[in-house]
Amino acid sequence: MNKIKTIGVMTSGGDAPGMNAAVRAVVRTGLHYGYKMALIKHGFSGLINGEIMEAGFTSVGDTLQRGGTFIGTARCAEFTTEAGQKRGAQMAKIFDLDAVVVIGGDGSYKGALALSRQGISVIGIPGTIDNDIASTDYTIGFDTAMNTALDAIDKLRDTSLSHDRCSVVEVMGRRAGYIAAQVGMAAGADVVLVPEEDYDIDRDVIGPLIETRNKGKKHFIVVVAEGVGMTEQLSEAITKYTGVEARPTILGHIQRGGTPTLRDREMASRMGHFAVELLHNGKENRLVGYRNGVLVDYDIEEGLKMTKKMDPKDVEISKILAQ
Ligand code: F6P
Repeated sequence: MNKIKTIGVMTSGGDAPGMNAAVRAVVRTGLHYGYKMALIKHGFSGLINGEIMEAGFTSVGDTLQRGGTFIGTARCAEFTTEAGQKRGAQMAKIFDLDAVVVIGGDGSYKGALALSRQGISVIGIPGTIDNDIASTDYTIGFDTAMNTALDAIDKLRDTSLSHDRCSVVEVMGRRAGYIAAQVGMAAGADVVLVPEEDYDIDRDVIGPLIETRNKGKKHFIVVVAEGVGMTEQLSEAITKYTGVEARPTILGHIQRGGTPTLRDREMASRMGHFAVELLHNGKENRLVGYRNGVLVDYDIEEGLKMTKKMDPKDVEISKILAQ
């Protein structure tokens, strides 16, 4: 058993579909074990400002099927400063929070680490559509975002096919190409560009498109990760050098919204439950992860030092299948 009486939960950074299901799981598991539970609104910013309220069973009712995060989120610059961190920890103490569960990405984990250094126990749950957290194979929101992007690309394919055009689609992922690589493969993209790989426009875009066109194909899909960028310029270059009319589409924040898929609700429910079990079993300052099909936990400092690399094979497969 442990000394913890009250557990707070927050969502932080970019929202991701499934975050609500994770909050619900944390609150309901905590109540199940007899803890007092609290919702911290708007991430670390809400912690600093004392936007904290007690949560009962019904506080999280009718939320798990909803997109976004009903407790709000923020990217909080103030919490990157020592003064902000001290203020956040002070607020946690004022509201009797012994532990805080932080649902978010790498930046939010850094905030959680800072909070732990101020004497508040923390647990991190991976929540970001980008799937770019090193201490886990899966992050909440990834599946829903990919399905949203896939649905959009399927629709773009209909119009590209009708006009014999090339659709150049930018998907989210500033630092990571996981969405681009997997959606590109599933959408049958002719070219996939990810920030992890350097590319040469002639070798990797124009050349392959001309080769495919020479085999008789008339419509094309190019998927570009946000971190590669230059989507409009790329589209213009494709029109100019291949003779195929290209049109750019930036999917943007639409990928962050919508009803979470089964996978995201299930993973969020399991991870939220697991996070509270860690605290209940006396563990603190851990990151929840999913490795080779099972839930695991890592020390927060160790987890933040880990690195993750996209498998280049994911892009390679799309190339092979397109040609
Ligand atoms: O949450 C991750 C993410 O959606 C990235 O894919 C994207 O680069 C970034 O957030 C956008 O952030 P913001 O909503 O602050 O523009």
